[in-house]
Amino acid sequence: MQIKGFSSEWLEELKQRNDIYDVVSKYVAMNRKGARYWGRCPFHHEKTPSFTVYPERGSFHCYGCHESGDVISFIMKIENIDFYDSISYLANNVGMQVPELRDVDAKNSREDKEKLMALLRDAARYYHSILLKTPKSMEYLKKRGIKQDTIVKFGLGQSPNFSEIIATLRSKGFTDKQMLDSGVASEKNGDLYDSLGGRLIIPIFNSFGNVIAFGGRVMEKTDFAKYKNTRETAIFIKNKTLYGLNFVNKVRQQQKITDLIIVEGYMDTIALVQAGVQNVVASMGTSLTEQQAKIMKSQVDNVYICYDGDAAGQASTLRGLDILKAKGLNVRVISMPEGLDPDEVIIKSGVEGFLKLKEEALPLIEYKLVKLKAEFDFSNPDGRSSYAKRALAVLADLDEVEKSAYVDYIAKLSGIDKADLTKAVDTKAKEPAKEEKSDNRNSAYLNACRFILLSKLSSKAYAKNEFQRDMLTDSTHIKIYDYLVNCERENIPPHPSMIYELEGDERECAEIINCCPNIGKEQESKYYEDCIKTMRKEYYITLIAELTEEMNATKDCEKQLEILKEISELNQLIRR
Ligand code: UTP
Ligand code: MN
Repeated sequence: MQIKGFSSEWLEELKQRNDIYDVVSKYVAMNRKGARYWGRCPFHHEKTPSFTVYPERGSFHCYGCHESGDVISFIMKIENIDFYDSISYLANNVGMQVPELRDVDAKNSREDKEKLMALLRDAARYYHSILLKTPKSMEYLKKRGIKQDTIVKFGLGQSPNFSEIIATLRSKGFTDKQMLDSGVASEKNGDLYDSLGGRLIIPIFNSFGNVIAFGGRVMEKTDFAKYKNTRETAIFIKNKTLYGLNFVNKVRQQQKITDLIIVEGYMDTIALVQAGVQNVVASMGTSLTEQQAKIMKSQVDNVYICYDGDAAGQASTLRGLDILKAKGLNVRVISMPEGLDPDEVIIKSGVEGFLKLKEEALPLIEYKLVKLKAEFDFSNPDGRSSYAKRALAVLADLDEVEKSAYVDYIAKLSGIDKADLTKAVDTKAKEPAKEEKSDNRNSAYLNACRFILLSKLSSKAYAKNEFQRDMLTDSTHIKIYDYLVNCERENIPPHPSMIYELEGDERECAEIINCCPNIGKEQESKYYEDCIKTMRKEYYITLIAELTEEMNATKDCEKQLEILKEISELNQLIRR
């Protein structure tokens, strides 16, 4: 047997030499019980261990979320990398040589990717060399407190103009297509130009430290965007990338990292790392994505979120909090003084100033309650009771013990009797349960649609059974459907995370990407068929409802009969 061009003998040897316990225990603390090891699953949130490793079989399995696999898929999942990268990583671990790929398709796409990486590396080197001899830019960085060795460590660069990088890469033998594919070049009227012409360059790395994209900053004040990134490519998917993760991984090889600080900007990361705070990554802009949260969860249990002290920063802090919390991370919020970002805090009050703020970071719920407090006027009873109402809503998802503690806190803040607040919590808790029941049918339909779309997006072999656009009701689902049709027409494979670019609902996109029914791999195909049935059934039910309405509206007997016939046909289809 051959997987993507590797012989099974070679893969076997790779797995033999990378003992699964040794590999997994770098990420998960585990205890031995009999022939197995147990620990808390790195792929979902849990308090008691249901993640197990069987060294004898070379496999892992989680009884909670049903993730399972071997050492290769473990690395793929935890590092968010593809099969080939996982293999290379493991081979490198034990000093094995990765053989030439035999599968032609796999080989070509791998070679394309490697060419892109080589191009980006050369571009980065070139930009870096230009920076070192551009006094104006060096002066700018110096003014911002960035030291020479930091410039080197982060590979900062300078694009001299819109043309030189093109000529340089051409002279190194790269083609126009490769330059365009890498994002370094853009095209206008048939001519290529530097996508980040004239800007200060910040290379963006993958978790192994290979350049996968660039950010570019204009140094002067402008009326257009201060930063621009090279576009998304085969190797750069923005919402799956955390800037700075490669440096954290390096540190991890020397010491255990138990928490991560997430900031917004490149410059925040660079300033913190330079100041000795090493466990920092940036979400590169204000909206933290599910994918980024997932990567963090695979590395640590505790996250500090540290966004700018402006309004946009605070709003995205709140959004980010929920995403992180949903992934099961313990979240704390480092509050920045009004208008400052971490980089500026360090400049103003040194790393001690920043660490002090970190020390004072509030846990998620407290942060929300305190934030909310600022919105109400506590000097009058109305203000206090409105606050209490909203504050109780914040507690909705907590367990009983936590809830009770916070009710105390709210009672104290609002001056409302604890007994009254507790009553309010209890009635609140009952309401959603009722709603859920009447919503059951609909949620089965929604989940079916999600699984079907995800299977199609991931080009699963079993995802063949076609369905119609009309069967979808959610506007985000319809956008994804159109995207899939488009991919098929253009003969390009769809990419799951591209759905975030379709301007649908971000939360629904996340639901789809993370949709993970409780089934084993071997049942997926059957489950897919069932989902198609569920979806069809729901569609027929809607049609019947529409037809019934139409029937009731008409006085024409013949028409009524015709509609009745249609309805009965649909009913038969449903029963099938
Ligand atoms: P900031 O404006 O907070 O970045 O945007 P910063 O790193 O503090 O920038 P300096 O200190 O002014 O140099 C946060 C992040 O959002 C993304 C970038 O990743 C940036 O680091 N961003 C921002 C963009 O992609 N485009 C923009 O126009 C602005
Ligand atoms: Mn800044």
